[in-house]
Amino acid sequence: MTQTTPTGPALSAPGTGPVYDRIGVGYSAVRRPDRRWAQIIRASLGDARTVLNVGAGSGAYEPADVRVVAVEPSLEMRAQRDRDAAPCVIGRAESLPFDDQAFDAVQAVLTVHHWSDLEGGVSELLRVASRFAVVTYDMDVQAGFWFTRDYVPEIAEAERSRVPSLDRLTALLGPCEVTELPVWHDFTDGFMTAFWRRPEAYLDPMMRRACSAFALTDTEAIERGVERLRDDLASGTWHRRYADMVMRDRIDAGFRLLTGTSPQAAGHRRTTTGERAAV
Ligand SMILES: C[S@@+](CC[C@H](N)C(=O)[O-])C[C@H]1O[C@@H](n2cnc3c(N)ncnc32)[C@H](O)[C@@H]1O
Repeated sequence: MTQTTPTGPALSAPGTGPVYDRIGVGYSAVRRPDRRWAQIIRASLGDARTVLNVGAGSGAYEPADVRVVAVEPSLEMRAQRDRDAAPCVIGRAESLPFDDQAFDAVQAVLTVHHWSDLEGGVSELLRVASRFAVVTYDMDVQAGFWFTRDYVPEIAEAERSRVPSLDRLTALLGPCEVTELPVWHDFTDGFMTAFWRRPEAYLDPMMRRACSAFALTDTEAIERGVERLRDDLASGTWHRRYADMVMRDRIDAGFRLLTGTSPQAAGHRRTTTGERAAV
């Protein structure tokens, strides 16, 4: 693993800070990595010995059994990392301060929709590692989720402007395997769709605060939707309307794990000491 001096654009525009310095407060209390996703993501990294975690946040889904380096622009998110978490570099996907093919694998979990330059960020992922594991979500599926569809459709409108389509992302990444990541009814990572079978959770402002889908959508629209949900829960309407939901164990909320190999990996080989070298 080799690291170079950070170069490229400043971490944020003058007068602003990384968005997660504002919306990331309380993140790790609500966004606890789900063990089932952690297993799937870990398995996708195969025999990688060095892993770069881009948009690492508070360290969710970082494998514990390999050497990990994290990259995260937000001070608020870095401050929520455990003391024994992997070392974390201040940086952005669009300009990674590492040499070509410095890592065996790179992971980027629920972060690509926050990058200011998706194309530049993806190109950096492919430059610094031989293989990738990217977790994202398909807005076409997520827009049909009951809370967005029936209570706050403004969330889907706002999200569509940020979340890249799977077609665009896979075109940038190159050939990938696409794996559905189900959301179980007792999912612990409290993103917007996690509480699909626990509707009372949407009434809790602390839960909503830890999720960018809420934090970056018009507050009044959310409050209107939440009030309607409160009424529907009190009257029994919600339980009648979504009776089939309550019977289910997991749903497809649109989350996808994209895995593949960097085309640039072919131009590098390992030396006898394990370092990577251009060939
Ligand atoms: C939803 S959080 C996900 C954090 C972590 N990967 C997880 O699964 O909990 C999105 C993260 O992406 C980071 N981020 C935003 N813009 C970024 C960029 N341009 N490059 C890298 N990370 C970025 C945010 O600061 C935030 O920590």
